[in-house]
Amino acid sequence: MTQLSPAQKPAAGATAEPTAKPVKDNPKSLYGGTSSRRITVRDIAAAKERGEKWPMLTAYDAMTASVFDESGIPVLLVGDSMGNCHLGYESTVPVTLDEIAILSAAVVRGTKRALVVADLPFGSYQEGPVQALRSATRLVKEAGAGAVKLEGGERSAHQVELLVSSGIPVMAHVGLTPQSVHAYGGYPVQGRGEEAAQQLLRDAKAVQDAGAFAVVLEAVPAELAAEVTRSLHIPTVGIGAGVECDAQVLVWTDMAGFTAGRVPRFVKQYLQLRELLGGAAKAFAEDVVGGAFPAEEHTFH
Ligand code: KIV
Repeated sequence: MTQLSPAQKPAAGATAEPTAKPVKDNPKSLYGGTSSRRITVRDIAAAKERGEKWPMLTAYDAMTASVFDESGIPVLLVGDSMGNCHLGYESTVPVTLDEIAILSAAVVRGTKRALVVADLPFGSYQEGPVQALRSATRLVKEAGAGAVKLEGGERSAHQVELLVSSGIPVMAHVGLTPQSVHAYGGYPVQGRGEEAAQQLLRDAKAVQDAGAFAVVLEAVPAELAAEVTRSLHIPTVGIGAGVECDAQVLVWTDMAGFTAGRVPRFVKQYLQLRELLGGAAKAFAEDVVGGAFPAEEHTFH
């Protein structure tokens, strides 16, 4: 296991022992709390101080987002995973800023309470901080997102810094960064081995120091994710990063069993939506072909 240097150790009080009341009894809880106003990044920071865990899901349209919002999911990510899950691309790489802006606006319209985080797609921030600011401004101003997300640790720290100093909250994303699929040649687990683990710690620390309010850890060994979580004062949001992260995120179509074919090992499916929806479509088709639909109660005279 990686040893933390004194510089990497959490500052006193930075990683509070869980002192929160049970989530359901705490009116301020991100999940299960009673406040109906929109969640902000200050609420997220307070949850880390309370040692409270919270859930995040992706959403790409107003109707699905409204279901998650009504279910109390406090943070919704309009992820560039929309490329694979919603727009029919093979990866997140082709997703454009226009597509993210349109779907983020829909998710904002469909929600009342959730903090909506809009992803900066590939090619919309890599040129540098000014390009990142131009792109992020569109997502906050046109789409109404409350925060943006971008991939990269040390390599994206300057972008994070300018966005944050311009008033745009940033969620960072380190470990496996799917926009680099062509460089990886796939989606390999990250942070294995001493050198890679140290780089991941540096990446997480760099985005925290640049002002990010949270950081996604994707496809990282659980022990390393736990170490990163302990050493940061901002929350970690795990996906394939073990149970010790402060928050957990899943792509909603994976979580609901809507995605076709195999899903990654870290996904838990809470529903078999693909099968259910297919069954409903077949039942409708059979009613039409057999003349059972429309029935009298669906008919005007
Ligand atoms: O685009 C996305 O959905 C994401 C999450 C998987 C973190 O980046």
